[in-house]
Amino acid sequence: MRGLDTPTRNIRLLHVGCGTSEVGPKLAEEPALSSLHVTDIDSSPTAVRLMRKRHATLGNYECREGDVLNLDFPAGRFDAVVDKGTLDALLCRSAEDALAMVSEVHRVLRKGGVYVQISAEDPEARLELLTECGSSSGRGPWSRSIFKELGESKGSTAYYMYVLVK
Ligand SMILES: C[S@@+](CC[C@H](N)C(=O)[O-])C[C@H]1O[C@@H](n2cnc3c(N)ncnc32)[C@H](O)[C@@H]1O
Repeated sequence: MRGLDTPTRNIRLLHVGCGTSEVGPKLAEEPALSSLHVTDIDSSPTAVRLMRKRHATLGNYECREGDVLNLDFPAGRFDAVVDKGTLDALLCRSAEDALAMVSEVHRVLRKGGVYVQISAEDPEARLELLTECGSSSGRGPWSRSIFKELGESKGSTAYYMYVLVK
């Protein structure tokens, strides 16, 4: 008989703008997360080629070329989305693109799914942006948002983790 806490399907995690980061493969390799399937995407064909070559033997991991402004996945596909520095990078170019990315992430998450951001942007600016995204209620399309300061890197930049629940 199946245990109560045994998931009946894979947990699907999307890492947006993966570059050549080991975050996705490390999560896929984690024994405690055996039901996890990780999809890495990046717009750089070079990064995608390299990640595919490096991690070809991981059965629950894939890396695809893709655009975070127009994600090639159906609505509600993922349980979790991880973003480490990608929204920060987009914000340097255009606030419009950053908002488009947040709404695409929201679309591909299932209800109750989580969007985890690792960012150098301070909460005052970031929470305003996230609230702005598609908001008519004044709270944005997320049911909950939490942030935590992760400490400072060598160059004394502070890092934050933002967790948004759809
Ligand atoms: C700051 S890097 C972060 C890389 C990785 N997450 C890490 O932590 O090392 C931003 C990444 O986003 C990718 N990127 C930028 N615009 C993108 C877009 N529109 N669609 C998909 N990826 C994009 C870049 O190619 C780059 O790899």
